[in-house]
Amino acid sequence: MNIQFTYLPGDGIGPEVGAAALFVLETVSDVFAHSLQIEAQLIGGAAIDAGEKPLPDATFESCQRTGAILLGAVGGPKWDHLTGADRPELGSLLPLRKRLNLYANIRPCKPYDGLLDRAPLKRDRLEGTDFVVMRELTGGIYFGAKGRDAGGAYDECRYSEAEVERIAIKAFDLAMQRRRKVTSVDKSNVLETSRLWRETVEQVSRRYPEVTLEHLLVDAMTMHMLTRPTDFDVVLTENMFGDILTDEASVLCGSMGVIPSASLSDGTIGLFEPIHGSAPDIAGQGKANPIAMILSAAWMLRLSFGLEAEASAIEAAVAGALDASEVTGDLGGALTTAEVGRAVAQRVRNAA
Ligand code: NAI
Ligand code: MG
Repeated sequence: MNIQFTYLPGDGIGPEVGAAALFVLETVSDVFAHSLQIEAQLIGGAAIDAGEKPLPDATFESCQRTGAILLGAVGGPKWDHLTGADRPELGSLLPLRKRLNLYANIRPCKPYDGLLDRAPLKRDRLEGTDFVVMRELTGGIYFGAKGRDAGGAYDECRYSEAEVERIAIKAFDLAMQRRRKVTSVDKSNVLETSRLWRETVEQVSRRYPEVTLEHLLVDAMTMHMLTRPTDFDVVLTENMFGDILTDEASVLCGSMGVIPSASLSDGTIGLFEPIHGSAPDIAGQGKANPIAMILSAAWMLRLSFGLEAEASAIEAAVAGALDASEVTGDLGGALTTAEVGRAVAQRVRNAA
Protein backbone atom coordinates (compact mmCIF):
# COMPACT_ATOMS: atom_id res chain seq x y z
CA MET A 1 0.00 0.00 0.00
CA ASN A 2 1.07 3.55 -0.61
CA ILE A 3 0.88 5.32 2.76
CA GLN A 4 0.45 8.95 1.84
CA PHE A 5 0.13 11.43 4.66
CA THR A 6 0.80 15.01 5.66
CA TYR A 7 3.60 15.43 8.19
CA LEU A 8 3.56 18.60 10.29
CA PRO A 9 6.60 18.61 12.61
CA GLY A 10 5.91 22.10 14.00
CA ASP A 11 7.95 23.58 16.82
CA GLY A 12 10.12 22.74 19.81
CA ILE A 13 10.35 18.99 20.32
CA GLY A 14 7.86 18.43 17.47
CA PRO A 15 10.55 17.82 14.81
CA GLU A 16 12.58 15.66 17.22
CA VAL A 17 9.78 13.27 18.17
CA GLY A 18 8.59 13.47 14.56
CA ALA A 19 11.93 12.22 13.22
CA ALA A 20 11.82 9.25 15.61
CA ALA A 21 8.26 8.41 14.52
CA LEU A 22 9.19 8.66 10.82
CA PHE A 23 12.10 6.30 11.47
CA VAL A 24 9.68 3.77 12.95
CA LEU A 25 7.24 4.27 10.05
CA GLU A 26 10.03 3.69 7.54
CA THR A 27 10.93 0.43 9.25
CA VAL A 28 7.31 -0.68 9.35
CA SER A 29 6.78 0.06 5.68
CA ASP A 30 9.97 -1.82 4.86
CA VAL A 31 9.00 -4.85 6.96
CA PHE A 32 5.41 -4.95 5.68
CA ALA A 33 6.30 -4.02 2.08
CA HIS A 34 4.47 -0.70 1.88
CA SER A 35 5.66 2.55 0.39
CA LEU A 36 5.66 5.84 2.28
CA GLN A 37 4.74 9.13 0.67
CA ILE A 38 5.37 11.85 3.23
CA GLU A 39 4.22 15.39 2.51
CA ALA A 40 6.15 17.51 5.01
CA GLN A 41 4.54 20.91 5.52
CA LEU A 42 5.06 23.97 7.69
CA ILE A 43 2.83 24.83 10.63
CA GLY A 44 2.88 27.10 13.67
CA GLY A 45 6.01 29.00 14.63
CA ALA A 46 8.03 27.19 11.96
CA ALA A 47 5.66 28.59 9.33
CA ILE A 48 5.80 32.08 10.84
CA ASP A 49 9.61 31.99 10.80
CA ALA A 50 9.49 31.06 7.12
CA GLY A 51 7.43 34.19 6.40
CA GLU A 52 4.13 32.35 6.11
CA LYS A 53 0.86 32.40 8.03
CA PRO A 54 0.72 29.99 11.00
CA LEU A 55 -1.43 27.71 8.82
CA PRO A 56 -0.17 28.22 5.25
CA ASP A 57 -2.61 27.52 2.41
CA ALA A 58 -0.31 24.80 1.05
CA THR A 59 -0.36 23.07 4.43
CA PHE A 60 -4.12 23.11 4.71
CA GLU A 61 -4.50 21.94 1.13
CA SER A 62 -2.18 19.00 1.77
CA CYS A 63 -4.06 18.02 4.96
CA GLN A 64 -7.37 18.15 3.15
CA ARG A 65 -6.07 16.12 0.22
CA THR A 66 -4.25 13.34 2.07
CA GLY A 67 -6.80 13.14 4.89
CA ALA A 68 -4.15 11.64 7.15
CA ILE A 69 -2.13 14.06 9.26
CA LEU A 70 0.70 13.41 11.71
CA LEU A 71 1.47 16.47 13.80
CA GLY A 72 4.19 17.19 16.38
CA ALA A 73 3.37 20.32 18.37
CA VAL A 74 3.22 24.05 17.86
CA GLY A 75 4.09 27.14 19.86
CA GLY A 76 6.75 28.32 22.25
CA PRO A 77 8.12 31.40 23.99
CA LYS A 78 9.65 32.71 20.77
CA TRP A 79 6.17 33.58 19.50
CA ASP A 80 4.63 34.64 22.81
CA HIS A 81 4.64 38.33 21.84
CA LEU A 82 2.17 37.62 19.02
CA THR A 83 -1.55 38.01 19.62
CA GLY A 84 -4.79 36.48 18.36
CA ALA A 85 -4.69 34.55 15.10
CA ASP A 86 -1.02 35.47 14.63
CA ARG A 87 -0.14 33.08 17.45
CA PRO A 88 0.93 29.55 16.50
CA GLU A 89 -1.77 27.79 18.56
CA LEU A 90 -4.66 30.13 17.78
CA GLY A 91 -3.63 30.64 14.17
CA SER A 92 -2.82 27.06 13.17
CA LEU A 93 -3.91 24.23 15.41
CA LEU A 94 -7.38 25.53 16.25
CA PRO A 95 -8.34 26.53 12.69
CA LEU A 96 -6.95 23.25 11.34
CA ARG A 97 -9.18 21.27 13.71
CA LYS A 98 -12.16 23.53 13.03
CA ARG A 99 -11.87 23.69 9.24
CA LEU A 100 -11.51 19.91 8.99
CA ASN A 101 -14.39 19.48 11.46
CA LEU A 102 -12.27 17.24 13.69
CA TYR A 103 -14.64 17.47 16.62
CA ALA A 104 -13.88 14.15 18.31
CA ASN A 105 -10.55 13.97 20.10
CA ILE A 106 -9.73 10.57 21.55
CA ARG A 107 -7.04 10.21 24.21
CA PRO A 108 -6.30 6.89 25.92
CA CYS A 109 -5.28 6.35 29.50
CA LYS A 110 -4.03 2.80 29.94
CA PRO A 111 -0.72 2.63 31.78
CA TYR A 112 1.77 0.21 30.25
CA ASP A 113 2.89 -2.57 32.59
CA GLY A 114 6.47 -1.41 32.28
CA LEU A 115 5.49 2.00 33.65
CA LEU A 116 3.29 1.03 36.59
CA ASP A 117 6.11 1.65 39.05
CA ARG A 118 7.15 4.92 37.40
CA ALA A 119 3.91 6.81 37.96
CA PRO A 120 3.50 8.79 41.18
CA LEU A 121 0.45 6.71 42.09
CA LYS A 122 0.86 3.33 43.76
CA ARG A 123 0.80 0.28 41.49
CA ASP A 124 -2.20 -1.30 43.24
CA ARG A 125 -4.29 1.80 42.60
CA LEU A 126 -3.28 2.03 38.95
CA GLU A 127 -3.45 -1.61 37.93
CA GLY A 128 -6.46 -2.19 35.67
CA THR A 129 -6.80 1.47 34.67
CA ASP A 130 -8.08 1.59 31.10
CA PHE A 131 -10.16 4.56 30.05
CA VAL A 132 -10.47 6.80 27.03
CA VAL A 133 -11.25 10.49 27.10
CA MET A 134 -13.63 11.65 24.37
CA ARG A 135 -12.91 15.37 24.25
CA GLU A 136 -15.05 17.77 22.20
CA LEU A 137 -12.50 19.62 20.07
CA THR A 138 -14.12 22.29 17.91
CA GLY A 139 -16.43 24.18 20.26
CA GLY A 140 -16.49 25.81 23.67
CA ILE A 141 -14.37 28.55 25.12
CA TYR A 142 -11.36 28.03 22.83
CA PHE A 143 -13.46 29.01 19.83
CA GLY A 144 -15.69 31.70 21.36
CA ALA A 145 -15.33 35.44 20.84
CA LYS A 146 -12.34 36.70 22.76
CA GLY A 147 -10.82 40.07 23.27
CA ARG A 148 -10.15 43.06 25.46
CA ASP A 149 -12.44 45.95 26.24
CA ALA A 150 -12.82 48.68 28.84
CA GLY A 151 -13.94 46.07 31.34
CA GLY A 152 -10.85 43.90 30.94
CA ALA A 153 -10.79 40.73 28.84
CA TYR A 154 -13.35 38.10 27.85
CA ASP A 155 -13.59 34.61 26.37
CA GLU A 156 -17.02 33.44 25.37
CA CYS A 157 -18.07 29.81 25.84
CA ARG A 158 -20.85 28.50 23.60
CA TYR A 159 -22.15 25.05 22.78
CA SER A 160 -25.05 24.15 20.52
CA GLU A 161 -27.19 21.12 21.24
CA ALA A 162 -26.05 19.61 17.93
CA GLU A 163 -22.40 19.96 18.91
CA VAL A 164 -22.99 18.19 22.21
CA GLU A 165 -25.16 15.52 20.65
CA ARG A 166 -22.63 14.45 18.02
CA ILE A 167 -19.74 14.09 20.47
CA ALA A 168 -22.00 12.26 22.94
CA ILE A 169 -22.93 9.79 20.19
CA LYS A 170 -19.22 9.18 19.53
CA ALA A 171 -18.71 8.51 23.24
CA PHE A 172 -21.64 6.12 23.58
CA ASP A 173 -20.68 4.29 20.37
CA LEU A 174 -17.18 3.82 21.74
CA ALA A 175 -18.53 2.65 25.10
CA MET A 176 -20.60 -0.01 23.29
CA GLN A 177 -17.31 -1.46 21.97
CA ARG A 178 -15.75 -1.32 25.44
CA ARG A 179 -17.08 -1.77 28.99
CA ARG A 180 -20.32 0.14 28.39
CA LYS A 181 -19.90 3.01 30.75
CA VAL A 182 -19.81 6.75 30.00
CA THR A 183 -18.72 9.31 32.58
CA SER A 184 -19.78 12.77 31.43
CA VAL A 185 -17.81 15.59 33.01
CA ASP A 186 -19.20 19.12 33.21
CA LYS A 187 -19.66 22.09 35.55
CA SER A 188 -23.42 22.16 35.45
CA ASN A 189 -23.75 23.65 38.93
CA VAL A 190 -22.36 26.91 37.54
CA LEU A 191 -22.23 27.00 33.73
CA GLU A 192 -25.24 27.18 31.41
CA THR A 193 -23.28 25.44 28.63
CA SER A 194 -22.76 22.58 31.08
CA ARG A 195 -26.49 22.40 31.83
CA LEU A 196 -27.18 22.03 28.12
CA TRP A 197 -24.34 19.50 27.96
CA ARG A 198 -25.86 17.37 30.71
CA GLU A 199 -29.41 17.53 29.31
CA THR A 200 -28.21 16.56 25.85
CA VAL A 201 -26.03 13.72 27.10
CA GLU A 202 -29.04 12.42 29.05
CA GLN A 203 -31.13 12.46 25.88
CA VAL A 204 -28.49 10.61 23.86
CA SER A 205 -28.06 8.06 26.65
CA ARG A 206 -31.70 6.98 26.24
CA ARG A 207 -30.71 5.53 22.86
CA TYR A 208 -28.09 3.36 24.59
CA PRO A 209 -29.89 1.49 27.37
CA GLU A 210 -26.96 -0.96 27.73
CA VAL A 211 -24.58 1.86 28.64
CA THR A 212 -24.32 3.13 32.22
CA LEU A 213 -24.13 6.90 32.41
CA GLU A 214 -22.47 8.76 35.28
CA HIS A 215 -22.21 12.55 35.62
CA LEU A 216 -19.37 14.21 37.50
CA LEU A 217 -18.47 17.83 38.06
CA VAL A 218 -15.05 18.64 36.67
CA ASP A 219 -13.53 19.72 39.96
CA ALA A 220 -14.56 16.46 41.58
CA MET A 221 -13.34 14.54 38.52
CA THR A 222 -9.77 15.76 39.05
CA MET A 223 -9.92 13.91 42.38
CA HIS A 224 -11.84 10.82 41.25
CA MET A 225 -9.34 10.30 38.43
CA LEU A 226 -6.60 9.83 41.01
CA THR A 227 -8.57 7.98 43.68
CA ARG A 228 -10.52 5.53 41.50
CA PRO A 229 -8.99 5.56 37.98
CA THR A 230 -10.02 1.95 37.31
CA ASP A 231 -13.73 2.92 37.51
CA PHE A 232 -13.72 4.81 34.21
CA ASP A 233 -14.33 3.50 30.71
CA VAL A 234 -15.23 6.40 28.40
CA VAL A 235 -14.90 9.90 29.83
CA LEU A 236 -16.91 12.40 27.79
CA THR A 237 -16.18 16.07 28.20
CA GLU A 238 -16.02 19.48 26.58
CA ASN A 239 -12.99 21.08 25.00
CA MET A 240 -11.19 22.87 27.81
CA PHE A 241 -12.01 20.34 30.54
CA GLY A 242 -10.71 17.58 28.27
CA ASP A 243 -7.50 19.48 27.63
CA ILE A 244 -6.86 19.84 31.34
CA LEU A 245 -8.02 16.38 32.45
CA THR A 246 -5.87 14.56 29.90
CA ASP A 247 -2.69 16.20 31.14
CA GLU A 248 -3.71 14.89 34.55
CA ALA A 249 -4.48 11.46 33.07
CA SER A 250 -1.01 11.34 31.53
CA VAL A 251 0.46 11.29 35.03
CA LEU A 252 -1.31 7.98 35.64
CA CYS A 253 0.53 6.63 32.60
CA GLY A 254 3.98 7.71 33.76
CA SER A 255 4.64 10.69 31.47
CA MET A 256 3.15 13.25 29.13
CA GLY A 257 5.44 11.72 26.57
CA VAL A 258 3.52 8.46 26.12
CA ILE A 259 -0.05 9.54 25.27
CA PRO A 260 -1.12 9.71 21.61
CA SER A 261 -4.37 11.15 20.31
CA ALA A 262 -6.65 10.94 17.32
CA SER A 263 -8.90 13.77 16.18
CA LEU A 264 -11.69 12.53 13.99
CA SER A 265 -14.77 13.70 12.14
CA ASP A 266 -17.70 11.91 10.57
CA GLY A 267 -15.74 11.11 7.44
CA THR A 268 -12.40 9.41 6.98
CA ILE A 269 -10.09 12.32 7.75
CA GLY A 270 -7.87 11.98 10.82
CA LEU A 271 -5.29 14.08 12.65
CA PHE A 272 -2.89 12.23 14.91
CA GLU A 273 -0.72 13.95 17.49
CA PRO A 274 0.77 13.50 20.94
CA ILE A 275 -1.17 15.24 23.71
CA HIS A 276 1.92 17.13 24.84
CA GLY A 277 3.06 20.51 23.58
CA SER A 278 6.36 21.73 22.15
CA ALA A 279 8.17 21.41 25.53
CA PRO A 280 10.55 24.34 24.99
CA ASP A 281 12.27 23.52 28.29
CA ILE A 282 13.81 20.36 26.79
CA ALA A 283 13.74 21.15 23.04
CA GLY A 284 16.91 20.61 21.04
CA GLN A 285 18.54 18.40 23.67
CA GLY A 286 17.48 14.93 22.53
CA LYS A 287 15.56 14.49 25.79
CA ALA A 288 12.01 14.36 24.43
CA ASN A 289 10.17 11.08 24.76
CA PRO A 290 9.02 10.13 21.24
CA ILE A 291 6.62 7.37 22.32
CA ALA A 292 3.48 9.53 22.19
CA MET A 293 4.38 10.51 18.63
CA ILE A 294 5.27 6.93 17.65
CA LEU A 295 1.94 5.71 19.04
CA SER A 296 0.15 8.52 17.19
CA ALA A 297 1.74 7.21 14.00
CA ALA A 298 0.48 3.72 14.88
CA TRP A 299 -3.03 5.10 15.33
CA MET A 300 -2.77 6.77 11.95
CA LEU A 301 -1.88 3.44 10.33
CA ARG A 302 -4.84 1.78 12.04
CA LEU A 303 -7.53 4.43 11.66
CA SER A 304 -6.60 6.15 8.39
CA PHE A 305 -5.19 3.18 6.47
CA GLY A 306 -6.79 0.15 8.14
CA LEU A 307 -3.32 -1.31 8.80
CA GLU A 308 -4.14 -3.16 12.01
CA ALA A 309 -1.18 -5.60 12.00
CA GLU A 310 1.26 -2.76 11.37
CA ALA A 311 -0.23 -0.62 14.16
CA SER A 312 -0.18 -3.56 16.57
CA ALA A 313 3.44 -4.28 15.67
CA ILE A 314 4.41 -0.76 16.69
CA GLU A 315 2.41 -0.95 19.92
CA ALA A 316 3.99 -4.28 20.83
CA ALA A 317 7.44 -2.86 20.09
CA VAL A 318 6.71 0.14 22.34
CA ALA A 319 5.55 -2.16 25.15
CA GLY A 320 8.76 -4.18 24.75
CA ALA A 321 10.94 -1.07 24.83
CA LEU A 322 9.18 0.14 27.98
CA ASP A 323 9.59 -3.25 29.66
CA ALA A 324 13.29 -3.18 28.83
CA SER A 325 13.64 0.44 30.06
CA GLU A 326 14.74 1.60 26.62
CA VAL A 327 13.38 5.01 27.50
CA THR A 328 14.19 8.69 27.88
CA GLY A 329 14.88 10.57 31.10
CA ASP A 330 11.24 11.46 31.88
CA LEU A 331 10.75 7.71 32.47
CA GLY A 332 14.02 7.28 34.32
CA GLY A 333 15.98 6.02 31.31
CA ALA A 334 19.16 7.19 29.66
CA LEU A 335 18.28 7.02 25.95
CA THR A 336 17.97 9.97 23.60
CA THR A 337 14.89 10.65 21.49
CA ALA A 338 16.50 9.15 18.40
CA GLU A 339 17.76 6.12 20.32
CA VAL A 340 14.25 5.32 21.53
CA GLY A 341 13.03 5.58 17.93
CA ARG A 342 15.74 3.16 16.81
CA ALA A 343 15.03 0.79 19.72
CA VAL A 344 11.32 0.62 18.84
CA ALA A 345 12.10 0.18 15.13
CA GLN A 346 14.55 -2.62 15.91
CA ARG A 347 11.89 -4.43 17.91
CA VAL A 348 9.44 -4.12 15.01
CA ARG A 349 12.09 -5.65 12.74
CA ASN A 350 12.99 -8.43 15.19
CA ALA A 351 9.35 -9.43 15.61
CA ALA A 352 8.75 -9.68 11.86
P1 NAI B 1 4.16 20.85 27.21
O1 NAI B 1 3.22 19.74 27.02
O2 NAI B 1 4.95 21.28 26.03
O3 NAI B 1 5.18 20.47 28.40
C1 NAI B 1 4.76 20.26 29.73
C2 NAI B 1 5.88 19.54 30.50
O4 NAI B 1 5.97 18.19 30.06
C3 NAI B 1 7.26 20.16 30.26
O5 NAI B 1 8.02 20.08 31.44
C4 NAI B 1 7.86 19.27 29.19
O6 NAI B 1 9.27 19.21 29.23
C5 NAI B 1 7.24 17.92 29.50
N1 NAI B 1 7.04 17.14 28.28
C6 NAI B 1 6.11 17.36 27.33
N2 NAI B 1 6.26 16.49 26.32
C7 NAI B 1 7.29 15.68 26.65
C8 NAI B 1 7.94 14.59 26.01
N3 NAI B 1 7.52 14.12 24.82
N4 NAI B 1 8.97 14.00 26.64
C9 NAI B 1 9.38 14.43 27.83
N5 NAI B 1 8.84 15.47 28.49
C10 NAI B 1 7.79 16.09 27.90
O7 NAI B 1 3.32 22.07 27.78
P2 NAI B 1 3.79 23.56 28.11
O8 NAI B 1 5.20 23.60 28.56
O9 NAI B 1 2.76 24.10 28.97
O10 NAI B 1 3.68 24.32 26.71
C11 NAI B 1 4.79 24.56 25.85
C12 NAI B 1 4.31 25.12 24.52
O11 NAI B 1 3.58 24.11 23.83
C13 NAI B 1 3.37 26.31 24.67
O12 NAI B 1 3.69 27.23 23.67
C14 NAI B 1 2.00 25.70 24.42
O13 NAI B 1 1.09 26.63 23.91
C15 NAI B 1 2.31 24.65 23.42
N6 NAI B 1 1.35 23.54 23.40
C16 NAI B 1 1.07 23.03 22.17
C17 NAI B 1 0.23 21.96 22.05
C18 NAI B 1 0.03 21.39 20.70
O14 NAI B 1 0.68 21.75 19.75
N7 NAI B 1 -0.87 20.44 20.55
C19 NAI B 1 -0.40 21.35 23.22
C20 NAI B 1 0.01 21.93 24.47
C21 NAI B 1 0.85 23.01 24.54
MG1 MG C 1 -3.21 20.33 26.24
